[in-house]
Amino acid sequence: MKDKEIENLIKAEIKRQNETINLIPSENFASLDVHKALGSVFNNKYCEGYPKARYYGGNEFVDELEILTKERSLKAFGLKEEDWGVNVQPYSGSPANLAIYVALVPLGEKIMGLQLDMGGHLTHGHKVSFTAKAWVSTPYTLNKETEELDYDDIRRLAVENKPKIIVAGYTAYPKIIDFEKFRKICDEVGAYLMVDMSHFAGLVAGGVYPTPFKYADVIMTTAHKTLRGPRAGVIFSNRKSEIANRAGVDIVKAIDKAVFPGLQGGPHANQIAAIGVVMEEAARPEFKEYAKQIVLNAKTLAAELKNFGFRLVAGGTETHLILVDVASSTHSASSLQASSGREGISGAEASDQLEKNGIIVNKNTIPYDARKPMDPSGIRMGTPALTTRGMKEGEMKLVAKLIAEVLLEKKDVSTEVRNLCAKFPLDY
Ligand SMILES: Cc1ncc(COP(=O)(O)O)c(C=O)c1O
Repeated sequence: MKDKEIENLIKAEIKRQNETINLIPSENFASLDVHKALGSVFNNKYCEGYPKARYYGGNEFVDELEILTKERSLKAFGLKEEDWGVNVQPYSGSPANLAIYVALVPLGEKIMGLQLDMGGHLTHGHKVSFTAKAWVSTPYTLNKETEELDYDDIRRLAVENKPKIIVAGYTAYPKIIDFEKFRKICDEVGAYLMVDMSHFAGLVAGGVYPTPFKYADVIMTTAHKTLRGPRAGVIFSNRKSEIANRAGVDIVKAIDKAVFPGLQGGPHANQIAAIGVVMEEAARPEFKEYAKQIVLNAKTLAAELKNFGFRLVAGGTETHLILVDVASSTHSASSLQASSGREGISGAEASDQLEKNGIIVNKNTIPYDARKPMDPSGIRMGTPALTTRGMKEGEMKLVAKLIAEVLLEKKDVSTEVRNLCAKFPLDY
């Protein structure tokens, strides 16, 4: 690059990504092809509108690109065009979620998602999000004992509040969602079922997570996270949605109109190209192996952490993601108490200590957290990124041991972390 200042930062970031153990469940390492598509000349093109109906000239190849990307998106999830519409223009996950509410829920009506501090996303109606200002948020929670979804309670709240849309799909939930139960609740109260599969879309594409496409009216995903693509959003709308058809709503048109011109201007054609790349990658047999390994790795990491005495929220994982209650786990670890003279450490402290050793996680609230969101009790971890590097169960056991040594024994494991990373270099 001519711009050395930025080039040096890019190089520093490549080195950081190569030399650290990335356990952030919403991150991944996209392929070189995804990066090439993102950095392509499609970045230069304005293409407001949709294929064959643009507000700018010169879009013959963008049209082909968007049509191909839509076809590939449907294929990656085994869908037919006559059943599902797909919009590949949302700039990211948050605008995609907003577009769905804009399309389907009149302003001021009720939306219902999982409360943020239980694992929901900001855009599912958290009070600081615009979604709770434009609509009335009536959130559901997790069962206090099991720390899992409580479908009877969700039904009770839905009957009481009569939301127009119910969101299933979360940011920090380690278990599998029962979409059939959500469908029944939605049918009973006349709400749309919206699935936000941003976190587990790669697992659905890989066949290791139940498909929501049998049940939902509308499904969105980010193309990053387990899907391993570019930062972007994709919305699938069910042409056979009974709720939409009964209300006389053309769900595909409504979503398209909400994305453009409702919320966005020119689509990012380079992002669309990169979505196209990743949807083809996700349809390959190797991706099934990848998805399977993500879950196997997460289950191995979870089991090992439990062996070291860590308490896992909801008892463990069925997905790519693990929530560890570090405050109570380290509280019971006598070695830590002896070394710190205090009772347990917070998620923020745990995350800092791990980062000093090259292990990257994020602090996170746990259900019914007694601590504050900026200094919560938990840390969130996931295996999509390490699995992309080629790590398997053996490495997960080592990673769990390194985490335990840092958090429970205050050991410096930075050399072991660097050595492990060096065995699994990135392509960049
Ligand atoms: C479940 C879920 N939905 C939506 C989003 C929003 O995606 P983005 O950060 O691309 O706006 C996230 C991101 O963390 C998420 O976890």
